[in-house]
Amino acid sequence: MNEYIDSAVAQFRTLLEEQLARTGRMENAAPAKDFTALPVVTIGVIDGDGIGPIISKQSTRVLEALLKDEIAAGSVVLKPIEGLTIENRLAKGEAVPKDVLNEVKTCDVLLKGPTETPKGGTMESANVTLRRELDLYANVRPVSVPEEGIDWIFFRENTEGEYVLGSRGVEIPGKLCMDFKVTTLPGTKRIARAAFQYAKNNGKKSVAIVTKANIMKKTDGRFSEICHEVAAEYPGIEAEDWYIDIMTAKLVDTRVRSRFQVFLLPNLYGDIITDEAAQLQGGVGTAGSANLGDQYAMFEAIHGSAPRMIETGRGDYANPSSLLRAASMLLRHIARTDKAALLDAALDTVPHGGDTAKDFADRLIEDIEYRL
Ligand code: IPM
Ligand code: MG
Repeated sequence: MNEYIDSAVAQFRTLLEEQLARTGRMENAAPAKDFTALPVVTIGVIDGDGIGPIISKQSTRVLEALLKDEIAAGSVVLKPIEGLTIENRLAKGEAVPKDVLNEVKTCDVLLKGPTETPKGGTMESANVTLRRELDLYANVRPVSVPEEGIDWIFFRENTEGEYVLGSRGVEIPGKLCMDFKVTTLPGTKRIARAAFQYAKNNGKKSVAIVTKANIMKKTDGRFSEICHEVAAEYPGIEAEDWYIDIMTAKLVDTRVRSRFQVFLLPNLYGDIITDEAAQLQGGVGTAGSANLGDQYAMFEAIHGSAPRMIETGRGDYANPSSLLRAASMLLRHIARTDKAALLDAALDTVPHGGDTAKDFADRLIEDIEYRL
């Protein structure tokens, strides 16, 4: 047993050193890039697995229609990124193969189809790797149900918490295993600032800080404290503390839920509750997701690669709405607000009605070209 303990302790020391080094890098981060003022914007398009290539192809067609003048003029470049497939990742034994990552880093923003995540084993999810490698610390997920007055936006911490060492737990075989959860000061400050700054810029009056600080006393306890320190820089915006369990209940309480505005949460709670919230809006197929960092930003569907749709031969019927909502967030991020509004208007008015992805995209493009 002792040798297992020794090796686990040695591994823990390495993890601590690595995480301290990451903290140092965050403290000395380069100034943020201004995505609204790039002379040329390169949009990398990653197909992904399962239904990914189908919805990605149709979303690209819609983007090409929206941006045709800028693409012709060269101020926007759509760049396909090959090789982020489960087959290639398994063959190379890398969650995101080096050459793919290098290509990704030549882009400013990315539109990414869903990628398959192997369960168990040691291979990390491609999403988690990309979020870490590109330091995409804010996972921003809006959910709206206008007829109920629901207008929520979730700021999920996206680079630490339960995820950062999620593939690096320790095990004493046949006896026990442990995973690690990490909360850092700069990592929490930057997501808290993103949430409170959003609240300020958009006239929101309250931010719900959602943790389980009564149980995860170190990590969630500090997360909540640091968020309150940041909140003090934003007078007029109320910082409310909520526990994740009761918050999941409140989201289905029709008497109170519309009063929430901005949510700020650690990684795993944010993962779980944003699926719940998306379901209230009409399903995970309807919600877009932005992964924002200071140098890169990645926009993706909130759902997975739906392998069952492919297995049952229904892949062509995949709904590209979630990826297109993400594309609209991408357009806003690069200050193409008018184009984003056109896309949102098309998505709000063109019914989906069980079409193939291609037929649906055809009708969206028709609607967009009519309004352009
Ligand atoms: C999400 C997804 C990912 C996550 C998976 C695919 C790794 O569920 O973006 O919410 O857990 O973050
Ligand atoms: Mg999720």
